[in-house]
Amino acid sequence: HGRVRTPHLLAAKAAGHRWAMLTSYDQYTAALFDAAGIPVLLVGDSAANNVLGHDTTIPVTVDELLPLVRAVARSAPRSLVVADLPFGSYEEDGRQALRTAVRFLKEGGCQAVKLEGGRDMAPQISQLVRAGVPVMAHIGFTPQSEHQLGGYRVQGRAGGAEAVLADARAVVDAGAFAVVLEMVPAPLAGRLTAELPVPTIGIGAGPDCDAQVAIWQDMAGLRTGRPLRFVRRYADMAGELERAAREFAADVQGGGFPGPEHSFE
Ligand code: KIV
Ligand code: NA
Repeated sequence: HGRVRTPHLLAAKAAGHRWAMLTSYDQYTAALFDAAGIPVLLVGDSAANNVLGHDTTIPVTVDELLPLVRAVARSAPRSLVVADLPFGSYEEDGRQALRTAVRFLKEGGCQAVKLEGGRDMAPQISQLVRAGVPVMAHIGFTPQSEHQLGGYRVQGRAGGAEAVLADARAVVDAGAFAVVLEMVPAPLAGRLTAELPVPTIGIGAGPDCDAQVAIWQDMAGLRTGRPLRFVRRYADMAGELERAAREFAADVQGGGFPGPEHSFE
């Protein structure tokens, strides 16, 4: 098997096959998710919250994300690797977006980029696509704009539906190969999935999208605390890691580790 490429995702939509995308920020998760058959890995700017300890995605920089992209791209032989363009690295114009995207492809080794925004970012998307860079769009709730949007809020309710529809059409017309729909009402996401010629990837967008994306630490239960409504935990990584750390410490304190088998004569 070779690497997943954007035409495979279009073919999956045509065939009605749903697929999953996970975030990944390091070599072990990249290799494991690749081996598990996850077709698309996203090195999200959510690394800000999920790796670097920030409260929002806003502070993360291109220079901070690049080594994570490199680690994932080196470790995933099959999955399509998508890098998020961080806040402030693409909004000015198509030239700025292209400069940033080129760094992610050349230095990071990913095969596509993702950026947030609809109609306003159409020029950036078409500039990238003209230069040969596949672009995943991201509309609905866009975390980089959370201060503008007034916090984590469902987008496209009532009168807002027309705005989300217009954004979706604009990013597809600009050449995006897929569209992330974050926190939009399920019926609207279903309508977009039926209408758009490219895959929709939902997060908090109901069951009718072509694909679903999750942040891996949410999916695997590494992040503790009250999960967001759209998160389902498939493992208790937090509990398992804490148990392992406690047992290791107790063994060291009690003299149970290392044993003779771990020691050199
Ligand atoms: O950064 C990220 O993890 C994302 C996904 C939630 C779509 O943008
Ligand atoms: Na993101």
